[in-house]
Amino acid sequence: MTAPSTNWSALAEQAGTVAPMRTLFEGDPDRLAKHTLEAAGLVLDASKNRVDDGLLAALFDLARASKVESRRAAMYAGQKINVTEERAVLHVALRAGRDASYRVDGHDVVPDVHAVLDHMEAFVAQIHDGTWTGHSGKAITDVVHIGIGGSDLGPRFACAALYGWRRAGLTVQFVANVDAQAIDDATASLDPATTLFVIASKTFTTAETMMNAHTARDWSLAGGVPEGELHRHFVAVSTNEEAATKFGIDAKNMFGFWDWVGGRYSLWSAIGLPIALACGMDRFRELLEGAAAMDAHFAGAPLEANLPVRLALMGIVNANLLGARSVCIAPYHQHLELLPAHLQQVEMESNGKSVDLDGLPVSHRTVPVIWGQPGTNAQHAYFQCLHQGTEWAPIDFIAVIDPTHAHLEHHRALLANCFAQSEALMRGKTTAEAKAELVDAGEDDAEAARLAPHKTFPGNRPSNTIVLQRLDPASLGALIALYEHKVMVQGAIWDVDSFDQWGVELGKVLARSIVDELKHGASGTHDASTAALIGRAKKARTA
Ligand code: F6P
Repeated sequence: MTAPSTNWSALAEQAGTVAPMRTLFEGDPDRLAKHTLEAAGLVLDASKNRVDDGLLAALFDLARASKVESRRAAMYAGQKINVTEERAVLHVALRAGRDASYRVDGHDVVPDVHAVLDHMEAFVAQIHDGTWTGHSGKAITDVVHIGIGGSDLGPRFACAALYGWRRAGLTVQFVANVDAQAIDDATASLDPATTLFVIASKTFTTAETMMNAHTARDWSLAGGVPEGELHRHFVAVSTNEEAATKFGIDAKNMFGFWDWVGGRYSLWSAIGLPIALACGMDRFRELLEGAAAMDAHFAGAPLEANLPVRLALMGIVNANLLGARSVCIAPYHQHLELLPAHLQQVEMESNGKSVDLDGLPVSHRTVPVIWGQPGTNAQHAYFQCLHQGTEWAPIDFIAVIDPTHAHLEHHRALLANCFAQSEALMRGKTTAEAKAELVDAGEDDAEAARLAPHKTFPGNRPSNTIVLQRLDPASLGALIALYEHKVMVQGAIWDVDSFDQWGVELGKVLARSIVDELKHGASGTHDASTAALIGRAKKARTA
């Protein structure tokens, strides 16, 4: 496959001629309408981006030349668009209705998907109604989900986001880190007799997850669970039935998924079991339906009206044409606190690549660093830099119109802050405006001139605002799917394999050999810095 040759410098030059956003708004009464898109219950206001009609048209040409449409079609058709692992990429099939059909190697996977969903439903019902009991006959009161990366972040984020939908009587916690502090903290106040562990690993070989799973097993045995009864306290979510069986999990307590589900796209599969346990299977199905609505939009809407495509193109403008090196995610809802963390994996593990599909180095930037915190906390931490620093970052503001609580004063303040930030970033304040304000406030001319540069805001700093009417399972599903499809579009434009993750391998291999050194005292071959760090840890261990 030959990479499309994009004339990035011509596009950057064109972007450099775009008038300041203030001017664009003043000169075009239709600007908001042209840059606002709505789908699957979400609204994207992309009007505060440094894009005019000419550049927008050039961006759609870029998307077409980059074969976004055919790559999208190939994904939905179950073609092996993950070229380095030779796998289909069909997370859309995980949220398809029973009557849909998605084929991998000629096999319709939708009935398989629904068989697992039905299995999850039956299991969740048994946990909730207390018919599934621990070894002593008591109902399960606490769930600990053990997984890492995509087998952790997605369900962890969704459970936090759907906090308002959690069911009483069952706690759900997450353990990912190999730092035993995580599992110790999670189990500290639990009773092994009423605790269920969900071991979630696509491969069932990931070192951290396996170590935590064994520690959980030891904790259960030490806490009085007879070995022959462990099956009441451990279930697995994996594509590797053999390894899960070897660990000791009963085949009927396994929830399978498939190699065409990427880890960071797996929360829709049985990896989402803790979401269903925490909130109920009906809520989990609503989450899938919300994502499916975004899938239908992404598949069918022309590029010009397509939300994920527009979000992706605004990202291309900022990263590739204007030189932004990161994207700040600012959810204005406390329960979306983990959205930046989830998107870090979805975006950075997917598109953090520097060779194209042919293995040739790319000549353009790929994914920027993703980071962020909920507003308004973020405003009191680093927004100073975003407003006035030399380092700028485009921001995705996420606003939720209906509150999930009864404190309307709080909610008005929250939304006001969200809207004010994007306005301030876009408008800025000239030195003359700053000076005039100071004079109006009673400063003399000299003092006003001295302070004005400090109170000047360059403005013209871009942002998107994504509006949810309310935060519920369906809107959450649509929001996550929006970003997943954004990633696919950007991957097509950057011509990278968005669905492999070879970059995590080298560190894993080196860690394995360093573990041996720490354990057995052997010395490996390392640079001076690494050798000294290992030496310190060994010395501390000996002491
Ligand atoms: O960090 C690399 C990675 O392979 C992720 O892509 C994946 O989500 C995570 O590890 C966990 O993998 P597994 O589900 O196989 O344990």
